[in-house]
Amino acid sequence: MDSGTLASIKAAMAGEGSPLARMLNALALLREALGPKSWVGLYVYEEKTNKLNLGPFQGSPACVSIRPGKGVVGTCYAAKKPLYVDDVNEFPGYVSCDACVKSEACFPLFAGDDVIGVLDVDSPELDGLKGDLTILMAVAHLFEG
Ligand code: SME
Repeated sequence: MDSGTLASIKAAMAGEGSPLARMLNALALLREALGPKSWVGLYVYEEKTNKLNLGPFQGSPACVSIRPGKGVVGTCYAAKKPLYVDDVNEFPGYVSCDACVKSEACFPLFAGDDVIGVLDVDSPELDGLKGDLTILMAVAHLFEG
């Protein structure tokens, strides 16, 4: 991914349409840049159920909810820190939604001091997101606030 991708995602987020339409277009651009077998989406925290629920995404059908502290998504949420797993098979408690995923990156989405959700990115390659982490972090910030 290059800075042109980030610029087009920024434009989609700032452009026309409902918040959902803008998020879906931004996620579609991100997935296109990462490749057709990648998966990108949001998990949104719900206090009532204490779950991270599947939100807008682009890619194959995915797990509909994840507990805080579980899997890559829930661990990122609980730690309030970005988490990159270069080989998901080595991650204890990995939550597998799609057998073709080999590496995964998650970024907490903040509203003030609270984490309201997670940007989740899956790659079909081992260590497939290594070169994209800085831009992915910038993309995550666009989904905050
Ligand atoms: N693999 C994730 C679950 C979400 S999917 O990748 C879309 C995890 O371990 O939390």
